[in-house]
Amino acid sequence: MTKRLRTLSGITPSGKPHVGNYLGMLKPALAMQATSETFYFIADLHALTKVRDAPALRENIRELAAVFLALGIDHEHHTFFRQSDVPEVAELTWVLSCVTPMGLLQRAHAFKDAQAKEEEPNHGLFAYPVLMAADILLYDTNQVPVGKDQKQHLEITRDIAGYFNRQFGETLVLPEPRIQEEVATIPGLDGRKMSKSYNNVIPLFSTQAELRKAVMRIVTDSKGVADPKDPESCNVFQIFRHFAAAEEQATWARRYREGGMGYGEIKQATFEAIDREIGPFRERYFALRDDDARIARVLGQGGEKARAVASGVLARVRRKVGLD
Ligand code: ADP
Ligand code: TRP
Repeated sequence: MTKRLRTLSGITPSGKPHVGNYLGMLKPALAMQATSETFYFIADLHALTKVRDAPALRENIRELAAVFLALGIDHEHHTFFRQSDVPEVAELTWVLSCVTPMGLLQRAHAFKDAQAKEEEPNHGLFAYPVLMAADILLYDTNQVPVGKDQKQHLEITRDIAGYFNRQFGETLVLPEPRIQEEVATIPGLDGRKMSKSYNNVIPLFSTQAELRKAVMRIVTDSKGVADPKDPESCNVFQIFRHFAAAEEQATWARRYREGGMGYGEIKQATFEAIDREIGPFRERYFALRDDDARIARVLGQGGEKARAVASGVLARVRRKVGLD
């Protein structure tokens, strides 16, 4: 029998999980449980580059854990954990830092964006891609399901693994990104990428009324009801299509082009389509979010399983560099 591929990914608990996270990462990642051995985690150490509020961070972690569980992560057969429960990742980050050229990190988008905004980036933000490389390389990961915005981070990870392997001999496994090209980047309420950092999200789990309200706020152009419209350039349609069957998409695309359809109508249809897919998980989400004991137990067990793998890979790295 061929060995199953190992799949790993993480989400930063820096705010409420949203529809972009769901389509770009959570949905495809959870589907991969059927065919591979998965390691999914809450990137709480990464969140420290932005979150400066301990109660808020705890809350974000709890909500994100509840999202994974409500959507059906199989934590018995797979490994679901919290990044900070595996201290080995900090040590590997340091070792990798020592083979990572500064120039590689200076070209990273997140760092360049912070500089462009004339913010004073902290060292954690600068070193963010090295910690992410350690996350991935610590588990001999073969594939990483992420949204398109993470592509550069995967390239940096492969570069860092390459530098290490060239200097110390074949040690680290080079991972492949698994990007849902058809999902690409989901627009947010204001048309920019939907992101926790922009406060423009449709929350994945909220009440039905809140979901509807968020969808109604998506910006559109100012065409009147009678005017023909373009579905391809419409933010609402770009979200709608991921929750609708092909036939339903074609029907609505035709209605856009014909004219006579107002944006209020497609927004209502989008709300209903999201609710149809997410609704069945909502109750489970709210129950889990308040079940601290269950979340602590699941993450505790996941952390132990993750450490067992991580310590083996770290021992191999230590031997190669002369720290054994
Ligand atoms: P955010 O930008 O909201 O902070 P994260 O950086 O935590 O989101 O992203 C978690 C996962 O969700 C990543 O795999 C990322 O690529 C994916 N993702 C985030 N926003 C989007 C989006 N708007 N469209 C598609 N995928 C996204
Ligand atoms: N940087 C990722 C994000 O913001 C989160 C993340 C951290 C991650 N470590 C990872 C994703 C390792 C995949 C693999 O979405």
